[in-house]
Amino acid sequence: MDSIHVYGGVSLQGNVKIQGSKNAVLPILAATILTKEMNVIHNCPRITDVYQMLHLLRGIGCYVSWEGNGVRIDAGNVNLSRMDAEAITGMRSSLFLMGALLGRVGEIVMEYPGGCCIGNRPIDLHIEALKKMGVHFQIGSEHIAASARDGLKGATIKLDKPSVGATENVILAAVMAEGNTVIEAAALEPEVVALCQYLKVCGARIEGAGTARISIEGGNRLYGTGYTVPSDRIVAGTYLFGCLGAGGNVMLEDAPVEQMEAVLSLAESLGAEYHIEKEGLYIQAPEKLVPIGELITAPYPGFPTDLQSIVLTVLTRAEGTCIVNETIFENRFRVVDALNKMGADILMLDDKKVQVRGETSLEGCQVMAEELRGGAALIVAGLMAEGETIIDGCNYIERGYENICKDLRELGARIHSV
Ligand code: EPZ
Repeated sequence: MDSIHVYGGVSLQGNVKIQGSKNAVLPILAATILTKEMNVIHNCPRITDVYQMLHLLRGIGCYVSWEGNGVRIDAGNVNLSRMDAEAITGMRSSLFLMGALLGRVGEIVMEYPGGCCIGNRPIDLHIEALKKMGVHFQIGSEHIAASARDGLKGATIKLDKPSVGATENVILAAVMAEGNTVIEAAALEPEVVALCQYLKVCGARIEGAGTARISIEGGNRLYGTGYTVPSDRIVAGTYLFGCLGAGGNVMLEDAPVEQMEAVLSLAESLGAEYHIEKEGLYIQAPEKLVPIGELITAPYPGFPTDLQSIVLTVLTRAEGTCIVNETIFENRFRVVDALNKMGADILMLDDKKVQVRGETSLEGCQVMAEELRGGAALIVAGLMAEGETIIDGCNYIERGYENICKDLRELGARIHSV
């Protein structure tokens, strides 16, 4: 898919099924190598980050095959060979293989992990935490070598920031360590909870998932299992706010409503109505979007940074002026230039704060996606704009959305990829 064409001015109507969660499935796929048996991960989204993770797993000797909406993984023959550098540097989640491979084989050499250019994406918290568990690092300009020559040791680890990835990496190493590990100031995200749920089904003993204090009992043998990935709260939020921007009413089937409190609270503040039904989340857009004054992103259960660009786009239509504060990443306003090119009036106050003037009309034009969620925001802008919007750089969008064009067409949008 090279570019996406959207013809705006059409309100959304209809049902769409929400895909499995990208940020839940990636650490779980890495975790499968902690068992020497067969695992089947159901509701696995067909997105490029998953394809790359599966490519990495094959590269270290795993047998991997798709079965319907799930993927079967046999990690019985994991052997450490040079993983595919391109796949590793292409995404952030290759970092999860560090904790998992240290747990399985006790060593790893890898390139620096990639990920969207939304900030520096350092890995100091991962390294400091794993060092406390007996891991030795050699940090090169291109590569990181990590080894636990004397085995992983349980430890008490206090994270300086509630890092999702660092929490998950420590959990992946701790389940195989000798002794117990306690993580203090752990991330509370639902994706951490899903990883712990999967590991507990495999036989791990973990308490406190979803709280700031997680304790992991090391040394238990883990068994292969079947596990169903929860739906993606960010994809559900993307379509929810897409409906608020374009107008209409939609049913988001299987939306993980219990993980979307802050999202639903913001939607209500904007004037939306919602009902939680048996099949999912019903959203009704208001005639006019109510002003909200200020939006601040925060770690879970606060408003998710991954929906910030999408809400920023919708706020161009709300009444009044709004201040958007991005507190998680230092470069997550990359979509502003493209939105202003479409007619928005967004002012950068500093690298973590913008002012967006409401009741501005967006005009379709050719724009470039520069990262995953900014790309999704440009599609929402295209739904809202007059005329045709052409979005290039769709490879970013494919990293996290299984088939955003098909999904939005099912909601009545006039959108196609070429
Ligand atoms: C995960 O990224 C998600 N990615 C991100 O989603 C999400 O935005 C982020 O968590 C925050 O919720 C995956 O799960 C694959 P962090 P992660 O460690 O783990 C700083 C998307 O669009 N930090 O919680 O990389 C970091 O710079 C993606 O789906 C350090 O300083 O995020 C950031 O400012 C984007 N040192 C803050 O912590 C470290 O060692 C939170 O990052 C690690 C992180």
